[in-house]
Amino acid sequence: IALTMVHCAHYDYGEYDRTRDDFRPGTFPDGFIWSTATASYQIEGAWNVDGKGESIWDRFSHTPGKVDRGDTGDVACDSHNKYREDVQLMKAMGLKYYRFSLSWPRIFPDGTVAGGVNQAGVDYYNNVIDELLANGITPMVTLYHWDLPQALQDRYGGWVNEEIVEHYDNYATFAFQTFGDRVKYWLTFNEPMVLCSLGYTSGEHAPGIHDPTSVSGLSCGHTLLKAHARAWHTYNTTFRQLQGGKVGIALSLLWAEPRDPDLPADVSATDRAMQMINGWFAQPIFGDGDYPNVIKETVQKLKSQLTEVPEFTDEDKSLIHGSADFLGVNHYSSRITSDKPIDIQTQSVFESFQMTTAPEWPRGQSDWLFAVPWGLRRLLKYIKEHYGDPDVYITENGWSDGDVQPPVMEDTGRICYYMTYIDEVLKAIEEDQVKVRAYTAWSFMDNFEWTRGYTERFGLHYVNFTDSNRPRTPKQSASFYKDVIANNGFPK
Ligand code: NOJ
Repeated sequence: IALTMVHCAHYDYGEYDRTRDDFRPGTFPDGFIWSTATASYQIEGAWNVDGKGESIWDRFSHTPGKVDRGDTGDVACDSHNKYREDVQLMKAMGLKYYRFSLSWPRIFPDGTVAGGVNQAGVDYYNNVIDELLANGITPMVTLYHWDLPQALQDRYGGWVNEEIVEHYDNYATFAFQTFGDRVKYWLTFNEPMVLCSLGYTSGEHAPGIHDPTSVSGLSCGHTLLKAHARAWHTYNTTFRQLQGGKVGIALSLLWAEPRDPDLPADVSATDRAMQMINGWFAQPIFGDGDYPNVIKETVQKLKSQLTEVPEFTDEDKSLIHGSADFLGVNHYSSRITSDKPIDIQTQSVFESFQMTTAPEWPRGQSDWLFAVPWGLRRLLKYIKEHYGDPDVYITENGWSDGDVQPPVMEDTGRICYYMTYIDEVLKAIEEDQVKVRAYTAWSFMDNFEWTRGYTERFGLHYVNFTDSNRPRTPKQSASFYKDVIANNGFPK
């Protein structure tokens, strides 16, 4: 479909769209990376096939009441069998890059090298990588997209325990060694903030630990940062020269807009929110090498309850600071932020702000997903200013529809979301000189949306989950994205 056929102009983002300026045609810099993404547990299926070990998401989704409708990733999109077809569909879209993740327990069933490598799992990923390359598609590999080997959960309690760092580093080393001759783009972790808060604070995600004190969540984050830095240094010292790739991390970053920019209380509440949500992981790696003040204050308060206090030694700091070749940004939405007075003695800084949305912001099927394209541009500028002007790879951005009949194949909502967000990326590059190198649409196809199961569909391709063949059909957004890729943007 021609770009001109899409009318998204009725998207008026209201009073918060303070720098409103219209859709701007233009093309992206030469060599700009256009990609789509998926993750192992969300698409592969074959959860107990060919020697794969159980993951915490297998265990979690098999526990009644954890996932809507009792959906599981047992079969998912069946990509374990259908990856060749997936690659053909990518090729048909003109995609030159694809981001996917490795399932750690498919490679090391009990998570450890001592427990033995599962050759069938290694073969599977070799096949996927070779198939991609044979079709002119560059792989971008996430090492950890939430499916921890259950054995490591049982043995160590998961990411709260720093003993896991060693095992993660062994796994990463094996992946670099085995696939690094062909894989040149790596992401150590996907969305640490989400996995530590939903997995270890609210308990909504695997492994389902509910700890409202934040002690577990903060420990999880602390371990992750160390594990990330370890893997980056392993690559840097042992593989970089030989393989010449890049290693980054995908952080979920939110844009927070002050409710009243002239009210200092709202402005500082917004600053606290940005520090907490984005800075928790971005500041140690890309900022000054330490946690933001709001995190440090919280840690101080919790000190008596913590067995090991998450504070960095100078050595930790120097290992973590700068341990990334690029910043992967997963971004979907924005919030309006205002001050919320708290009792310093009893309440935490986490409670010192309030987040809302504007009624005019279009909402996706996901209850947290509101389209606010200009939020991405502001976020990118903020990253440039606060996190050392890194190379930015947008590693996720996308829109969900419901699981309805008839299925949404003319997915105008998704097209308008992509069109307006991608245009804001272009403005960030051209006007604000943000070094954005890549844009990745989430997702290549509908898949297992964690606790929402198959009720939320993010795909450029429709997947029929009631048909045992799991047929894929391109939605209108797939042709839209194909045009964007072919034109390297929106030519004038
Ligand atoms: C974030 C996650 O990385 C991905 O797994 C998820 O499906 C999408 N965003 C949409 O929620």
